[in-house]
Amino acid sequence: MKISSVGALEFLDSRGNPTVSAQIHLQDGTVASAIVPSGASTGEREAAELRDGDPNRYGGKGVQTAVTHVRTEIHAALVGYDVTDQKRLDDRLIELDGTPNKSRLGANAILGVSMAAARAAASATGQPLFKYLGGNQESPLPVPCLNVINGGRHADNTVDFQEFQIAPHNASSFSEGLRMGIETFHALKTLLRTEGKATGVGDEGGFAPDLGNDEDAVEFILRAIEKAGYRPGEDIVLCLDPATSELWNNGTYVFEKSGQEDMTTQEMIQLWKTWVNKYPIVLIEDALAENDWLGWKQLTATLGNQVELVGDDIFCTNPAILQEAIEKGVGNSILIKLNQIGTVSETLECVQLAQKCGYGVYVSHRSGETEDTFIADLAVATGCGHIKTGSGCRGERIAKFNRLIEIEHSLGDSACYAGLGGFHQSIVSTQH
Ligand code: PGA
Ligand code: ZN
Repeated sequence: MKISSVGALEFLDSRGNPTVSAQIHLQDGTVASAIVPSGASTGEREAAELRDGDPNRYGGKGVQTAVTHVRTEIHAALVGYDVTDQKRLDDRLIELDGTPNKSRLGANAILGVSMAAARAAASATGQPLFKYLGGNQESPLPVPCLNVINGGRHADNTVDFQEFQIAPHNASSFSEGLRMGIETFHALKTLLRTEGKATGVGDEGGFAPDLGNDEDAVEFILRAIEKAGYRPGEDIVLCLDPATSELWNNGTYVFEKSGQEDMTTQEMIQLWKTWVNKYPIVLIEDALAENDWLGWKQLTATLGNQVELVGDDIFCTNPAILQEAIEKGVGNSILIKLNQIGTVSETLECVQLAQKCGYGVYVSHRSGETEDTFIADLAVATGCGHIKTGSGCRGERIAKFNRLIEIEHSLGDSACYAGLGGFHQSIVSTQH
């Protein structure tokens, strides 16, 4: 189980930007690799991706320096390490980097190696990745929350909120839930086309039409659910990620793309109250901006027993920030993105802290993704109950769904589907 060498290549992500692919070779001949994703609407306190900044290559976005760090310093530090001791290996990477945000070696270099190590360990011990990461506890398959309308930083349309998701919870299995979601995605396409709207897709595979205002997106989706033969609320619920840190400007929420009126924190909270009461919305992520902690506290007191309030940019998959949020009563759930923190061990530590403290856990892709399916296994390993990994198209997103279908099949009769119970407990009592 000892590492014999560590390598890396400069790969490309789904936006055609360079990213790190890391490989681990073990003395027993096992080889495993992993590819790192990349965000667009990033939190200020995320671990730092190292980019070359050379304007003559990929507009400065090359990752050759990070690749070199893997091949030289990281390789030298890890040769001989037991690959099954993930914590010790990750701690060594953190120590070697020496900065609080992994900016010297690059969080992209470090995470690639950390993920590849987990995969190598799973392979060398003869286990699927989800079993290796999660142990033998029975975990439900997550509800796929499909981001069927894209806006914000992920699309060039007039929609300010970033993500409008459908969660097909009322199904007997993951595969059936996914089918309901995909059928609704196709129904939405027909509906948009019929009404003269564009059906091109955004970064995460959801449609990206120009709409009159953000609420129109919700209305279109509800109609699509019915058109596909399902009942909004009873079969399929809605989740939102407005990614409001992107709208935040000196204490005001600015709706630049749609041209709607600016809003204060109070007005935003009022908007969410109205929407939650009017529509079958069970989850809102980044309902307020990452620097609006006072607003978040108030929002949580107002809606936290009715809806899952997920912190993405505000928590950055960081156990220390999450701890502070728990103490302050901010949010009731956390988005989990491996590259926000930069190692597998810290990601798992964050999940454990959230679960211990009654926070929801929502495993997520990035808007810049790859064919790597690590997060599908992570979602099952953690028993997080719901995953967001795209919409009804784009191979880098579908790859995760296909992996989950494979996992479900491999579990046979012991497979179960999380359904509405996969969301934070606050919403179960208020089934729409
Ligand atoms: P990102 O978007 O990967 O661009 O950060 C995803 C999200 O905000 O959840
Ligand atoms: Zn988000």
